[in-house]
Amino acid sequence: MAILTLPPLSLYVHIPWCVQKCPYCDFNSHAQKGAIPEAEYVQHLLQDLQQDLSRLKDSVSERKLHSIFIGGGTPSLFSAESIATLLNGIQSQIPFSENIEITLEANPGTAEAERFKGYVKAGVTRISMGIQSFSDEKLHALGRIHNSDEAKTAVQFAKNSGLKSFNLDLMHGLPNQTLAQALDDLRQAIALEPPHLSWYQLTIEPNTMFAYRPPRLPDDDELWDIFEQGHQLLTEAGYQQYETSAYAKTDFQCQHNLNYWRFGDYLAIGCGAHGKMTFANGDILRYSKTKHPKGYLRGEYLYEQKNVAEIDRAFEFFMNRFRLLEAVPKLEFEQFTGLPQSAVKNQIDFALQQNYLTETATHWQITQHGKLFLNELLELFLAESE
Ligand SMILES: C[S@@+](CC[C@H](N)C(=O)[O-])C[C@H]1O[C@@H](n2cnc3c(N)ncnc32)[C@H](O)[C@@H]1O
Ligand code: SF4
Repeated sequence: MAILTLPPLSLYVHIPWCVQKCPYCDFNSHAQKGAIPEAEYVQHLLQDLQQDLSRLKDSVSERKLHSIFIGGGTPSLFSAESIATLLNGIQSQIPFSENIEITLEANPGTAEAERFKGYVKAGVTRISMGIQSFSDEKLHALGRIHNSDEAKTAVQFAKNSGLKSFNLDLMHGLPNQTLAQALDDLRQAIALEPPHLSWYQLTIEPNTMFAYRPPRLPDDDELWDIFEQGHQLLTEAGYQQYETSAYAKTDFQCQHNLNYWRFGDYLAIGCGAHGKMTFANGDILRYSKTKHPKGYLRGEYLYEQKNVAEIDRAFEFFMNRFRLLEAVPKLEFEQFTGLPQSAVKNQIDFALQQNYLTETATHWQITQHGKLFLNELLELFLAESE
């Protein structure tokens, strides 16, 4: 079996510190205790990349980065100088494509006008801002360090900094949230004219403060009304939904996330970061980095790596692809998994019969019905059923 074409290549960079830990968050982030070892961490990130590039050289050679995502945690705790050192150091090791998208996640509680301009000077093209809500009462319930006015000021900084795009992260289904409150958050976000809006439903994750002391959340009927009416509001305002929680104006989809969902490749550096790389010999490797800053700062970067077995590839491909609303090119299934279409013929025929999918000669398209029965659709591709 051979992979015909290597998919586009991205890079994820994880910054694991925050001012304080939010009670709903299960991301790999730690409340900062004293000064963050910022310069030291940047040097470790660059050494981590160097080790990846030599370990993965058969996959990486001749490839350019098409996007970088600096996520966290709270990357906006880092100075513009550190981000410039980081991006220069990355570019000296691996070339950037001409239109590279470079996103940095920012928390409005740590936003400064000059710092945002410095990020742009360093090469950042897009800022993703963790707004969550415009209600001070909800922000307090979420344990956020910013208030509504600070959120709006931070968006103005983003707008004035020369970025190509910016995203606002909002959550809905918040503690005691009414339909009117959820729609009001969306209206205030839309008024700020972000080219991209991520609209997540709050989930209670194990091992978070909210899991130990669950707040009262809207029930399923209320959540459905919030989703339906919110979706309509966003659509009327010119935002197209392209993934479960992602909305964008035309041509402003997040290229980095699209690459994940299209089963592209991504290098990963920083605490707990996950990578996926395809090799011309047909191997697909997944790997992750040491989660805790202590070990990582000792230079222990690689935590584990594992090849994706042939039998798991169809499931992994469709699990990612069917998050997107766009049609799936059949050719990319063959190119990116190394499997022939005949490997999934029975499952696809069944999915067509069930109206989970429609197809043309070149594409598969998930239907509205398929979206509602996504788990059943994906189960068809699990290893046991092949
Ligand atoms: C990795 S976080 C980083 C953003 C940044 N640290 C911040 O919070 O401002 C990315 C986004 O995921 C969303 N998120 C985090 N935890 C969530 C949860 N339990 N349920 C739904 N969305 C969540 C939030 O909207 C958050 O902005
Ligand atoms: S600021 Fe963001 S990453 Fe940090 S704890 Fe809160 S939600 Fe998690």
